This record gives sequence, C-alpha cells and structure tokens, in this order.
Amino acid sequence: MTNLSTNANEPRPGQSQASPEVDLRVQLGRLTLRNPILTASGTFGYAREMAGLVDLSQLGGVLPKTITLAPRAGNTPWRTVETSAGLLNSIGLDNDGVDAFIAGHLPYLRTLDTAVIVSIAGKSHEEFVELAKRLEAAGPGVAALELNISCPNVTGGVDFGTDPMACHAVVSGVRAATSLPILAKLTPNVTRIVDIARAAADAGADAVCCINTLLGMAVDWRKRRAMLGNIMGGLSGPAIKPVALRCVYQIASTLNIPVVGIGGIATMDDVMEFIVAGASAVQIGTANYYDPTVSQRLVEQLPAALAQIDCRSMASATGCMLTQRASSNPIALQPSATK
Ligand SMILES: Cc1cc2nc3c(=O)[nH]c(=O)nc-3n(C[C@H](O)[C@H](O)[C@H](O)COP(=O)(O)O)c2cc1C
Repeated sequence: MTNLSTNANEPRPGQSQASPEVDLRVQLGRLTLRNPILTASGTFGYAREMAGLVDLSQLGGVLPKTITLAPRAGNTPWRTVETSAGLLNSIGLDNDGVDAFIAGHLPYLRTLDTAVIVSIAGKSHEEFVELAKRLEAAGPGVAALELNISCPNVTGGVDFGTDPMACHAVVSGVRAATSLPILAKLTPNVTRIVDIARAAADAGADAVCCINTLLGMAVDWRKRRAMLGNIMGGLSGPAIKPVALRCVYQIASTLNIPVVGIGGIATMDDVMEFIVAGASAVQIGTANYYDPTVSQRLVEQLPAALAQIDCRSMASATGCMLTQRASSNPIALQPSATK
C-alpha cells in the first residue's frame, strides 16, 4: 500500500546522501527514510506551495497540514502572533477534510520523490480509524500516518495526547485498521511525556514525534485583551527547543522506540543536538516561515556535521550522547524496565 518510501530511499546521483562515506538513511519502525530531515505539519502547506523554492526530492519526507474527517474552518483571527523568541498560533486545524485531500492533494503528493507522511486528527477514536482506512484505501502515495494527538487549538483531540490510556486506545485502533507505519505526535503539555510515549509504543506505533506546540498566550494590555482570537495558542520556534530536547532525551533514554525531534530547529547545530540526544529524525517547523529552503540546506550540511563526531551513519549518531553518558557513568543511565 505504501508507495514512494521504497523508491524514495534509493540514493540518486547528485544527492549529498549518495556520498559513500555517510549513510543518511533512517529507520522509523517499518518506515525507511532517505535522510532524517522532514518538514513539520502545518508549516509547509501541502508541499506544492513550496515546490518552486525547494527541491522536495532532497528531503527525507514532507508532512502536509493535518487533515480531519470533515472540513474545518479553524479559529477566529488573529491566528498568529510573533513573540520575543517564537510564534504563537491558534489556527485550529483549518482544512478542507479528507475527501478534498484525497481528490485535490494526494494526486500531486504521490508524484513526489520523497516520503509523504500524512498527518491526521480525529475528534474521536472512530474518526482516527476512519481517516486511516480512507487514506490506505486511497492507493499509493502515503508513506506513513502521523497521528496528531497533540494539537492545543482544538477541543477533543488533545485528550488522546494527555491520557496514556486514551493514547493507547487510539494508536491500537489505527494499528488494527491499517498496515501503514504510524507515528504518534505528542504534546509537551503533560507532566510525564514518557508515559504517553510508552502507551503509543505499546500500542504499536512505529515512532513518536515530539513535540507539538506548548500552550501559551499573548496579551495586548492597552486594549485589555488577548492577542489571539482563541485567547490561547501554541508556542513554537526557538523558545521551545530546550523543552523539545528534554522530551526527546527523556523518551530516548527510557524507551525502545524511534523518536522524531521537533521544536525550534533551524540550524545544523540544532539538528545535531537533537540527534545526539536521541532523535532518529527531525522535523523543521516555524523556520520554514522565514526560510523555506532551510530543510534542503540542512540535508546538504548533514554529512559534514556527522563526520565532525566521527559518525558515518545516522544510526551510529542517534542517541550517541546516551551511550557515552552510560559508559562514563553507569549509574546515571540504569536501563529501565522498558529500555
Ligand atoms: C502556524 C502553525 C501551524 C501548525 N499546524 C500544525 C498542524 O496542522 N498539525 C500538527 O501536527 N502540527 C502543527 N503545527 C506544529 C508544528 O508541526 C510543530 O510541531 C511545532 O511548530 C514545533 O516545531 P517548530 O518549533 O519547529 O515550529 C503548527 C505550527 C505552526 C507554527
């Protein structure tokens, strides 16, 4: 049923990853990616909008804007506010629904020579399952599903990302309904993110992605009102990188499931920080808004960065900080029951 992921992984002439010295391939459970640089859902349109700026075939994969079963108008404006170190948004999953996606976007997306990971969000367990079934039945072009159980801007969906039992139920429901690889996108707006990641792993997720945005707020004190129409929104960008790194590290050092790092990534240093802390791949979000070419550039820079830490493959670099720490201080990283 899946598609391009096989072809998409073949190194091609002229690609930086074709370098014999560094193997950029990434394995996320059943999903193989040509390289670890992905674009985050909601920040890269449906990829078509970016095709004139970016050579999409250079990327490890793209994640179109989250789709829902029925069309959604999204939240009232304002929907975005720039803050001192990031962006607040309350888009509210504005999209035309799964039927419009399959009819209007998937035919284009399946022509791309990169992995297309489709982000879905349901208000109920049944909606997630229905979305997965429809996308699998739609034919080739979908490399994997990312379950958005973490959007802070809608009521309903986020519960799946804050309650381990609800998370387990929705991931296992989708797991039973499709053979597509499943990535569960987690929210940082919880006390113990490892518990949610463990539930997703136990339910059969191929990988967990963290993080979605942090719930925040901006105020116009002169007007005595919130800046966003929905009052609260999700914070993204440089401000959230330390939180995202902490989440990746906590999960990668506790569980045996691939982790995709997201949050404030804009430079090669950012990418490498996530990789050594345990990320098998990364997604670039807010940075696309001010530099849509950033992801392609990061792919080009990655082999040299890996060489700096004497790594010849992504697999050897992922989590190398954890193994180094464990060997220098065996007590610090006692294997947990789940690792
Ligand atoms: C304007 C905007 C819209 C977003 N829409 C979605 C979405 O539809 N689905 C989703 O899973 N995440 C969405 N996100 C969250 C991003 O995918 C990403 O998880 C988050 O922004 C953190 O990464 P960053 O700091 O690199 O932006 C959105 C983020 C922004 C800024």
